[in-house]
Amino acid sequence: MNMLRELYGQIIMDHYHRPRNRGEIPDADLEEHLLNPLCGDEVTVYANFDGDTVSEVKFSGRGCSISQASASMMTERLMGKSREEAEAEIQHFKNMMVGEEDFPEHDDLAALKGVIQYPSRIKCATLSWTAFQQGLED
Ligand code: FES
Repeated sequence: MNMLRELYGQIIMDHYHRPRNRGEIPDADLEEHLLNPLCGDEVTVYANFDGDTVSEVKFSGRGCSISQASASMMTERLMGKSREEAEAEIQHFKNMMVGEEDFPEHDDLAALKGVIQYPSRIKCATLSWTAFQQGLED
């Protein structure tokens, strides 16, 4: 394993073991539950808005290290964003997961790019992002 891949693995494990913004928001403005049909794991994302701005975001559920780390990273990324910015961030991330866009190497989200080598795990990485996207659409 080269140094970069090792570092990326550490970022994923750090978010998995110390998830940011894990929990529930009762009566949230946005609440969306999504099941990964491939494995039965599930995630629920919650957000509150202050006007157009994401003022609080959390996630709950269970799943593999990739899904949990990705959800943790997503909460950090979307906090403070407008709806439009959040939609753009989600699309950017999903584009990376189909090999069409990148994040800079120093960006935590770039750590998940390696997942695209394992097509069956891509859904793990995108689960919470898709849930948030669906929540925004509702
Ligand atoms: Fe279930 Fe990754 S194996 S979300």
